Amino acid sequence: MAKIQDQALVIFGASGDLTYRKLIPALFDLFMQDLLPDNFAIIGVSRTELSDDAFRNKMNDGIRQFAYFRDKDKGKLDAFDQKLHYQSIDTKEAGDYRLLKQRLAELDADHHTGGNYIFYLSTPPNLYGLIPQFLAQQGLNRGNDGFPRLIIEKPFGEDVYSAFNLNKMLRQHFEEKQLYRIDHYLGKETVQNVLVTRFANGIYEPLWNRNYIQRVEITAAESLGVEGRGGYYDQSGAMRDMIQNHLLQLVALVAMEPPTEISAEAIRNEKMKVFQSLRPLKEKELASSVIRGQYLTSNVRGRHMPGYREEKGVDPDSRTETYVALKFFIDNWRWGGVPFYVRTGKRLPTRVSEIVIHFKPTPHKLFVSNSEFCNNGNQLVLRIHPDEGILLKTGMKIPGAGFEVKTVNMDFHYKDLQETYVPSAYERLLLDCMMGDATLYTRGDGLEAAWCFVQPILDYWKHNPNVPLFGYPAGTWGPEDADQLIEGENQTWRYPCKNLTDDGIYCEL
Ligand code: BG6
Repeated sequence: MAKIQDQALVIFGASGDLTYRKLIPALFDLFMQDLLPDNFAIIGVSRTELSDDAFRNKMNDGIRQFAYFRDKDKGKLDAFDQKLHYQSIDTKEAGDYRLLKQRLAELDADHHTGGNYIFYLSTPPNLYGLIPQFLAQQGLNRGNDGFPRLIIEKPFGEDVYSAFNLNKMLRQHFEEKQLYRIDHYLGKETVQNVLVTRFANGIYEPLWNRNYIQRVEITAAESLGVEGRGGYYDQSGAMRDMIQNHLLQLVALVAMEPPTEISAEAIRNEKMKVFQSLRPLKEKELASSVIRGQYLTSNVRGRHMPGYREEKGVDPDSRTETYVALKFFIDNWRWGGVPFYVRTGKRLPTRVSEIVIHFKPTPHKLFVSNSEFCNNGNQLVLRIHPDEGILLKTGMKIPGAGFEVKTVNMDFHYKDLQETYVPSAYERLLLDCMMGDATLYTRGDGLEAAWCFVQPILDYWKHNPNVPLFGYPAGTWGPEDADQLIEGENQTWRYPCKNLTDDGIYCEL
């Protein structure tokens, strides 16, 4: 791996949950693997008054709870603490950025960070336009000897208009190559492995098209509810929170053409073509191609589960969707006529994210059998989490008389890899940004194109408040109507369990 330049990371929103639970533990894990640059400083920025020591204490607490290497060498925490600093400013006050500039100059002198800065925006989204502007007023958007880069957390806009606007504001002060828009799904090992499965294996790619694939199914199920984020979620809903970003990114990786090389531009160009080929859902299809739901109170294994409308911060008459399932097509040579089904929901029976490629059944049914396999064909399951791995469902002769066929599993589980550490998404993404590699970050045009696909659905719901919002009891797989989306007789979603190889047999909340 190339040596990483010395640098400082400035985290705006340092008193927030993301910094405590994800960012600092990820940085600590990088430190424990000797992956941070030789000279490196972290400076937490927010409005709360805190001393460096108080900030360190709080972050140490987060490390003790969430870092993977927390118990490896306790002495190392002190060394890591020396890299942590804190600066209180009012991020809405342009003048306060002088203090930050001064502090960065001091850190450059003390820690030899070379004038290279990453600014990480982990604040409420209404500051995403303002902070870059104020940084620019201090000249912190232009490197003299070093580089400035900007990481922007999600949500990136609340609709297509605000997303375009935000890009415009950012580009007034930073060039596209300085911008790193986070989608933490792209930092997941198993998501990156979609590219390797497709393009490092000679056997899949020839089959990866409309001639052999019947449909593609992508699920991101969560067993948790809104977990204290009711205020945010009620304004967002599953379409904005999961589909517009994480799930459309997965669609792009499954559907894209092979890139000319593994580079940020080559990969993002191919993803962009997928977004451009998504067939817009027309008003008359919207009612039948998009199903939305909201979880209702229920008892699961004797435990009372509150309904969505009872959650803190949620409007008691809310019509925000906590579940969405949709069917759409990609109008290009490879995918013409192949339906893509995508669903996500909160308070479903288990937490699981996966991609299922359903291959067409054989053209001639040689083996007369009622077996589900002969009617359905092979399935390739790319499991994102948990029980990360790959599963191929294949047909096998049942030993004995005749030719009875049954489905068997050929499976690989990451947990079977000996001594392989799987880095967290934030670890990978932070490290990539430090190296100046934007491959796993979303590009502005791709993000806008994904919004363009989603916006007509949001508009349709907004202008037609009577479009059904189906209630589903917490702990179930969402509205039954979602099964009707799937084309073909007796075809349904795969109902996965937390174990990759089981489906529909048991599930847990
Ligand atoms: C976040 C959403 O982006 O992704 C959350 O805001 C959701 O609502 C989370 O729970 C899911 O991420 P993961 O990695 O747990 O699948």
